[in-house]
Amino acid sequence: MDKHIHSESVTTNASVTHDFSPENSDIDILDNGKTVRDFIDDKIKERVSKDTEDPFYVANLDRLYLMHLRWVTNLPRVRPFFAVKCNNTPVVLKMLSALGTGFDCASKNEIDLVLSLGATPDDIIYAHTIKPLSHIKYAEAHGVSRMTFDNEEELLKVSLSHPNAKLILRIAVDDSKSILRLNTKFGASLDSVAQLLERAKKLELDVIGISFHVGSGCTDSVAFMQAIADARHAFDIGNLLGFQMNLLDIGGGFSGRDNYRVKFEEFSEVINAALDDFFPPDSGVEVIAEPGRYYVESVFTMAVNIIAKKVITDNVDENRNGEESRKMVYYINEGLHGSMNFIISDPCASKVDPYPQRAVERSEQRYVTVLWGPTCDSQDKLNGTYNLPEMHVGDWLLLDNIGAYSLTLSSDFNGFDRADVYSVVTAGAQI
Ligand SMILES: Cc1ncc(COP(=O)(O)O)c(C=O)c1O
Repeated sequence: MDKHIHSESVTTNASVTHDFSPENSDIDILDNGKTVRDFIDDKIKERVSKDTEDPFYVANLDRLYLMHLRWVTNLPRVRPFFAVKCNNTPVVLKMLSALGTGFDCASKNEIDLVLSLGATPDDIIYAHTIKPLSHIKYAEAHGVSRMTFDNEEELLKVSLSHPNAKLILRIAVDDSKSILRLNTKFGASLDSVAQLLERAKKLELDVIGISFHVGSGCTDSVAFMQAIADARHAFDIGNLLGFQMNLLDIGGGFSGRDNYRVKFEEFSEVINAALDDFFPPDSGVEVIAEPGRYYVESVFTMAVNIIAKKVITDNVDENRNGEESRKMVYYINEGLHGSMNFIISDPCASKVDPYPQRAVERSEQRYVTVLWGPTCDSQDKLNGTYNLPEMHVGDWLLLDNIGAYSLTLSSDFNGFDRADVYSVVTAGAQI
């Protein structure tokens, strides 16, 4: 049996003591060699015994810790400020806070959440260039002073509501090699940097640095090198205008998937070299980042249930020696309006595995498979290409790499509940 932790404090073997709040972040400890897969087995059996088929997530906190270790090993100069919009599960935020990360918040509610979980105002960067006035006032009232901007109107709002803010100018950079491009909506062009900074000067505002985002799911490490060079140019303009420029924020964009096209280590090498060139350690510039998907993408697995099935039989297929060709269509109980919206932009993100394992035998025939979500919306379809053995109503599917932009985008459209989230950690893990 795994132990279910409801207590205020969990201390495992080594360096970090977690102080997880009991109401939000129950953690299951895997002991006696029990694996995450065993835990999923138990949860599915539990559901079957209770006559329910509700989907659920499992967050593997061992993996979260590993991702953090990988970050500090590869980018020792760059303090991560986790992007809360990517996954706001309290136990994840609490653990990251215990490990010493800061937080990138996009709104008053995200600021409120991380403060309530123990982060200090200095651990926060309000990294949205477009902020409602009332949210800026909230940041001011709660001591959060570092925030980004990319336009003059934002400067006016800040001068009215938070004149002592420490501002970071977000510049637009090349995001053409990223899955989700951000720079058509955000970021000031390099050409406009001088004018914006002069405006800030006239308003007697304090600009302390430059930020950028190469786009989420970046596939080319050169994008970081160019963006860091651009940031240097903007820094020089700021320094010339008399600002004490001392913060560089290299944004997000990294993947945490093992099967991703570009390994984090490759990005890190390029970033470290560019930092050494443009912002050497003796420049005194503090370097931070706003990773989202890197930390959580691979931490979460989801189990979904097949609630309906159709078999589409084509006429005899000439290409398959006259065999009848069958296509499988399954309706699962989580979809784009649940937490799988990210699949629209990144269809290969998650591998879909049949459950239980018996269905994965190599000899088993596979079929072209269509996966529909449960709602009445005809767009509610997972648009990846799936080849699965034949499954049946009541069977389960497991999806990996599903921790980024999933839970935070979910709705209860059509009255389907949001999925449960369980968190597990291995007993004696070196956390
Ligand atoms: C301002 C900002 N920072 C950080 C992130 C996190 O990006 P990623 O998940 O690619 O690391 C985003 C994502 O949209 C963002 O908009």
